[in-house]
Amino acid sequence: MASIVFDQVKKYYDGETPVVDHLDLEVRDGEFLVLVGPSGCGKSTVLRMAAGLEMVSDGEIRIGGRVVNDLPPQQRNVAMVFQNYALYPHMTVRRNLEFPLRMQKLPRREIARRVSKTAEMLGLSPVLDRRPKTLSGGQRQRVAMGRAIVRDADVFLMDEPLSNLDARLRIQIRTDIAALQARLRVTTLYVTHDQVEAMTMGQRVAVMRSGKLEQTAPPQALYERPASVFVAGFIGSPGMNILRAELASDDNGLAARINRFRLALPDDIFSRCPTLEAWIGRELLVGIRPEGISLADEHDDAGIPAAVRATESLGHETILHAAAEVTTVAFDAQTPFTAVTETPILSAVLRGHRPLRHGEPLRLSINSGNLHFFAPDGKAIGCPFHP
Ligand SMILES: Nc1ncnc2c1ncn2[C@@H]1O[C@H](COP(=O)(O)OP(=O)(O)OP(=O)(O)O)[C@@H](O)[C@H]1O
Ligand SMILES: [Mg+2]
Repeated sequence: MASIVFDQVKKYYDGETPVVDHLDLEVRDGEFLVLVGPSGCGKSTVLRMAAGLEMVSDGEIRIGGRVVNDLPPQQRNVAMVFQNYALYPHMTVRRNLEFPLRMQKLPRREIARRVSKTAEMLGLSPVLDRRPKTLSGGQRQRVAMGRAIVRDADVFLMDEPLSNLDARLRIQIRTDIAALQARLRVTTLYVTHDQVEAMTMGQRVAVMRSGKLEQTAPPQALYERPASVFVAGFIGSPGMNILRAELASDDNGLAARINRFRLALPDDIFSRCPTLEAWIGRELLVGIRPEGISLADEHDDAGIPAAVRATESLGHETILHAAAEVTTVAFDAQTPFTAVTETPILSAVLRGHRPLRHGEPLRLSINSGNLHFFAPDGKAIGCPFHP
């Protein structure tokens, strides 16, 4: 086992625009770290550089303390699992599992021992003599995992290994992979664009955008204390509502003014977030999770008047998108904190099934105990736990 360290790593394909920029990241010994981000942000490139399939343009990659920049893939002792599995169609499952070990010229008995142990661990023993095309998608996925496991590699590198599976199987296998990794304790760097996979599988999650790391933290910390509006919008479904507001202190206490509405803030807000005080009288962005918005009594003057635009009923909860007199901003995934789009839509997650008609008027109430504050450039305002 070994740690993987990216030290100021850069990658250019064209010599000009880096697709990976100043990457500093450590996957600790035995850790399961998920690298997540939108399509094209550079995740696969990071993984392929660690595997040795792509050259590093600048900086250093160390695996188990050893600089691997110039080592060919086979000398890095890493095992990679790809999205398309890359199984040999003309070989049986047994042959597919044996293949990497034969390449290493291991003794036959050792090969047989490892293959049978791995097959047993993954429930593949009954299908060892079958060809990949006769297997289900889930079984094929397990063969691909098996081919990584037999090698006794120091680290696993996985690039979207579940994206070819249907939704139900994906849920089952993501639990299996996390359990398997916990058992084997092999340092794992796992790439996905799916925030649910990231949140459920990673011990820590690194969020990447446009070649740069936005934040690395345990899943719950990402959810509770996103370092930027980008992370706030990416983690959670629907993402956080980000509203233009002004922080005001008046006779009635402290408030966030959101258009013509006054959202009273809790008295202890400065003790929780001291640097916020410097923002009184200034424009900032207020983040509200959809779970923090509920339906207010229709006579409640504090409620924000809104009209139903769309609802999505999931049975146990209803996602409501409602138009209101607020300005919700969204940041582009590619450009650093520009290209803002503005809409008047608030998203809320309501418990249970709520049949609501399109256009139906209602009032929304915001739970002010769980707000997030961001500077206009999208970075979280330095609450104690913020970087
Ligand atoms: N061989 C290459 N030559 C030139 N540009 C490349 C090459 N490979 C990738 N890129 C570019 O580098 C950027 C990052 O690509 P990468 O495949 O790492 O993204 P990704 O985050 O894995 O995306 P996805 O979620 O779609 O797999 C993209 O803009 C891509 O077009
Ligand atoms: Mg990719």
